[in-house]
Amino acid sequence: MKPIKIGLLGIGTVGGGVFEVLTRNQEEIRRRAGRGIEIAMVADLNVERAQQIVAGRAQVVSDARAVIANPDIDIVIELIGGYGIAKQLALETIAAGKHLVTANKALLAVHGTEIFAAAHAKGVTVAFEAAVAGGVPIIKALREGLTANRIQWIAGIINGTTNFILSEMRDKGLDFDAALKDAQRLGYAEADPTFDIEGIDAAHKATIMSAIAFGIPVQFDKAHVEGITRLTAQDIKYAEQLGYRIKLLGITKRVAQGIELRVHPALVPARRLIANVEGAMNAVVVHGDAVGTTLYYGKGAGSEPTASAVIADLVDITRLHTADPAHRVPSLAFHPDALSDVRILPMRDVVTSYYLRLRVADETGVLARVAMLMADAGISIDAVLQREADEIGGEGSTQTDLIILTHDTREGTLDDALVKVQALPSVLAPIVRLRKEELA
Ligand code: HSE
Repeated sequence: MKPIKIGLLGIGTVGGGVFEVLTRNQEEIRRRAGRGIEIAMVADLNVERAQQIVAGRAQVVSDARAVIANPDIDIVIELIGGYGIAKQLALETIAAGKHLVTANKALLAVHGTEIFAAAHAKGVTVAFEAAVAGGVPIIKALREGLTANRIQWIAGIINGTTNFILSEMRDKGLDFDAALKDAQRLGYAEADPTFDIEGIDAAHKATIMSAIAFGIPVQFDKAHVEGITRLTAQDIKYAEQLGYRIKLLGITKRVAQGIELRVHPALVPARRLIANVEGAMNAVVVHGDAVGTTLYYGKGAGSEPTASAVIADLVDITRLHTADPAHRVPSLAFHPDALSDVRILPMRDVVTSYYLRLRVADETGVLARVAMLMADAGISIDAVLQREADEIGGEGSTQTDLIILTHDTREGTLDDALVKVQALPSVLAPIVRLRKEELA
């Protein structure tokens, strides 16, 4: 059978990796796909650089629409990124009756509903393994491997940049700003790291996983998004003393009242495997009712790891190219007419446990007054740690840190109680409040 022809929009690190791996493993990939897979045409505004990467293996043009319009092309890979021109080209690819492979999590998390509906109407596939956790086949696992399960929760380290920064903060006792500079110097963080450090990139990925896990539309606008910029080395150290690591987690969970969808730093027990994922690596824990807890680990970014995911999608589509669209695996795991409208919960209704750090005057009765306000709100305390004042402010210091771990409580209840605790004259600085996830 003739090779299937692919068009590639945007060639850089990942596109170069796709070429490299497709060329190196072409024989193995052909045996798996049932026919050859060939990138025939590449579009990039920087034609000269694209030609260097392609090295004569495909036609290079500057106009992406020339690729989409080419009748020989069956599948278009979008590696441009962002929601501007990438969205337009994705919709035009679908309108031209071609399958779309994309690594663009921002596009799918924000405009997924429109894109998947267009693809469904045209009978083409939108594949996006590379959009979540790079080379880790988490989309395949959620959509197909775990299809028997009622998925209960997912918790993932799905942003390598922030995980690298948190590892540096812990290992070297650095504060956030210093660790970010290290990450930028070593090429782990971009010059403008906003999407990573503010949790936006992780929230895009969590939003996509949530849709696939629970059969709901992609709803990035309902996600709670919190980054790591306000974390201090001090909190990482206290967490460590209590047996926890702080990780930026993307969490989505099915609870009685709806679905939780949230990204924020969280204390995780140090004995959990996911707590030991260091550096720029990614890991996702999925809990299903039948299978129990499963863990997926690997590189979440980089040229060949991401290419691995892109090519897996190409092989999937190649295998099913001639199948009736109704017999293909649905993009979001559930059939489009079977999506559920179960609501995503506001954060005040989320129930979890908490780490609190209070800078207090080291005087009689402070702990008792704080504990009383918590008890009045029905919040149960799990553990308390207090350092000697000298350790905090040097010899003769009259201030100390009071660390409190709570049992599970509703976030709204805790926040209301913390307003009262904050108002105590002995509480000297804004209270630090971090969520704690046992992931048991
Ligand atoms: N910026 C992402 C990360 C990589 O740091 O994990 C691609 O999603």
